[in-house]
Amino acid sequence: DVQKQDYKARIKQLLIDQNAVLVAHYYTDPEIQALAEETGGCVSDSLEMARFGRDHPAKTLIVAGVKFMGETAKILSPEKTILMPTLEATCSLDLGCPIDQFSEFCDAHPDHTVVVYANTSAAVKARADWVVTSSIALEIVEHLDSEGKKIIWGPDRHLGSYIAKQTGAEMLMWQGDCIVHDEFKSKALLELKKLHPDAAILVHPESPASVVEMADAVGSTSQLIKAAQTMDNQTFIVATDRGIFYKMQQAAPGKTLIEAPTGGNGATCKSCAHCPWMAMNGLQAIEASLSDTDKSNHEIFVDDALRIKALIPLTRMLDFAK
Ligand code: 13P
Ligand code: SF4
Repeated sequence: DVQKQDYKARIKQLLIDQNAVLVAHYYTDPEIQALAEETGGCVSDSLEMARFGRDHPAKTLIVAGVKFMGETAKILSPEKTILMPTLEATCSLDLGCPIDQFSEFCDAHPDHTVVVYANTSAAVKARADWVVTSSIALEIVEHLDSEGKKIIWGPDRHLGSYIAKQTGAEMLMWQGDCIVHDEFKSKALLELKKLHPDAAILVHPESPASVVEMADAVGSTSQLIKAAQTMDNQTFIVATDRGIFYKMQQAAPGKTLIEAPTGGNGATCKSCAHCPWMAMNGLQAIEASLSDTDKSNHEIFVDDALRIKALIPLTRMLDFAK
């Protein structure tokens, strides 16, 4: 509609005027993803968002995603201005892993290597030896296990269990979860699969073990998009945030993509396959992040001492992923 076109035009001009680039996650609304593509920004998983933001020459990054992604961008590029459409966009994994308790957990097991998921605060990253995202977690834990390291893993218990099972690594687990992926239900998935016997099941590893066990492919958002593109099946049942369908359908034109079933009926389902925090990244909020003269609702700052510590495990991950 006219108002949306208006916002898009204004954002495009502001990006140019302010030497800024839009970095969006696959779970944001399709119109935000399209805008990032049209303006030379990026749409990707959390690993690639970090890399793209770090390497891009723009003075300002607009991170359309959730807070940990903005903080990661600031840790990697302290000289850049990092803006977010709203600072309210957080993540249940980040919220469920407060630094004081996590630090106590680590202190109780000093002989363990601390590996944390990127979906955490800067303070939790600063306490870690390694940061991982879902696209590189398996390889990094495999590497640490081959060196005989015992691991503390946080915060996602489902991703952690999946990795422990795959690698055989000894892992002490923080008990966090993603409210979106935790809703996927294996019983309902089995029923859906009966209706589509030729469909391949694609699952993000933040989903419960019973759902992961049914998967034909398990992986990060970008790995699931690749799977839909390269696997021979014509139909896919997809257990991750529905925001992914925009790029997945582009990558696999003509294929049929079906949402995996969640907890159900709105009354029982907290998120129903769309992250409420990712959904806060609207056009209006993006426009405001660029046009507001007072940036206090948008700008990400990370305390210098934390930033310097958190940079170490983040850089380890990016170097490992090269
Ligand atoms: P990816 O790194 O697979 O994109 O997943 C991160 C995530 O869950 C963002 O919410
Ligand atoms: Fe966090 Fe889950 Fe939302 Fe990703 S989808 S930001 S893991 S709550």
